[in-house]
Amino acid sequence: MAIIKWTESLSVGVAEIDEQHQNLINLINSLHDAMLKKQSKEVLADILDKLAAYTVYHFSTEEKYMEQCNYQGLYYHKKEHERFVEKIESFIRDYQANKLGLSIELMTFLKDWLTNHIMITDKKYTAVFNENGIV
Ligand SMILES: [Fe+2]
Ligand SMILES: [Fe+2]
Repeated sequence: MAIIKWTESLSVGVAEIDEQHQNLINLINSLHDAMLKKQSKEVLADILDKLAAYTVYHFSTEEKYMEQCNYQGLYYHKKEHERFVEKIESFIRDYQANKLGLSIELMTFLKDWLTNHIMITDKKYTAVFNENGIV
């Protein structure tokens, strides 16, 4: 069961970035499925690592385009990215140390963070990216 579904309303008007957001959503859905199926810690840790790595890759793509466009909102956008990566990394550390387990709260946090970030923060760069030929 998918916890997040990508729809046109999540489009930021840039094909490459929409595709990356879909990949992130697929990873969160895989994590959710694996959690519900009570998969082993190794399986869950592997998906978590993939999610963390892909998140870093995705953020670096957006930041590269923001720099190319001299985007005004780069500083705060980057801060939001950094805080999220720190959260995921600290969760993974606690998970590996058996201090925290996967929970519906974590899944809801991931879902809400990603959808709010796309809808509010990412969508702000659409016009500037499109004007600079990033479509
Ligand atoms: Fe994004
Ligand atoms: Fe972003």
